[in-house]
Amino acid sequence: MREVRGQEAIFGFSGTKARVLAAAVLMAAIAAALVSIPERSPEWAYSQELVRKLFLFPILLCASWFGVRGAAISTAVATVSCLGLLGSPWPEALQAQMERIGEVAVFWLVGALSSRFFEQQRKFLRDIETANDNTLLALASSLDVREHNTGVHSQRVAGYMLRLAKELGIRDKEKLDIAWRGALLHDVGKIGIPDDVLLKPGPLTGEEWRVMRLHPMVGAGILRKIDFLREPAEIVHSHHERYDGSGYPRGLAAEDIPLGARMFAVIDVYDALTTDRSYHTACSHVEASTSLREGAGNLFDPAVVTAFARVPFGELREIARSNDTSLLLGPEAAPALRETAVASPFH
Ligand SMILES: [Fe+2]
Repeated sequence: MREVRGQEAIFGFSGTKARVLAAAVLMAAIAAALVSIPERSPEWAYSQELVRKLFLFPILLCASWFGVRGAAISTAVATVSCLGLLGSPWPEALQAQMERIGEVAVFWLVGALSSRFFEQQRKFLRDIETANDNTLLALASSLDVREHNTGVHSQRVAGYMLRLAKELGIRDKEKLDIAWRGALLHDVGKIGIPDDVLLKPGPLTGEEWRVMRLHPMVGAGILRKIDFLREPAEIVHSHHERYDGSGYPRGLAAEDIPLGARMFAVIDVYDALTTDRSYHTACSHVEASTSLREGAGNLFDPAVVTAFARVPFGELREIARSNDTSLLLGPEAAPALRETAVASPFH
């Protein structure tokens, strides 16, 4: 199971503080409006009743954002405001008193029911998202088994990608999801590459290269048909572009390459260098980092290389360990399959 990738953004801000602030400002504004209505004016009673009902809005918001606890706190604040403890005088007539108490009871009922509803909705959406991502994981693993005979290359680079995104200051859950899914599915287009080209042990001919270089477009074309994969498709489409414009399929350069693809270019080479492949044995983290620095400005975005260099080696090692081949294929199958991997360094 992948880790939680961040929080949803609210009004351009992310995090609990922005939501707490928004709810507090809204409740304070309603309480201030309640106090400011001139007493005994002709519309006094009616206006106060109307303003008190506005408390339902922050109660629903808090139930949506914070669940049961948020609904309880906001309802308590609304209760205090409406029962006359914040300057709103307590009515003299018994009927008016009962109506005020009835309003408060409605607040608690709405708070309880809505928090329960939103909690169920969140769980439902989490279940759908988990099911979707598990399907993507299975698809990526099956492609890895076909090409690399390992089954975990895509999961590992997706893990690195997520960590790099956070290092670049990306906190928005949606953007982190796009980065993770784009990395996971980067080579999905290889499903359309014939075995005699994809698995060829020796160098490819010119025609075979032409076919191989179609895989970013094939992959992007597949993913664009699926709503929640349209943006990851842009990473897939550009994952073989190079910062100096020497990549493919479109020869994009610098900022014209989507940020996710510029990030992935660094990740993919780091993973290729630090894992055993049929064409080389794994080099050390220090050696791989040196190669990335040498490629900054021509192959890679220098800012991305710098950000990746800030990620502690221990965290990268933990991501690699948690995506070990033996965890997926079992300790007996993994070494044998690894030895027969035929992936080319240039695919
Ligand atoms: Fe690729």
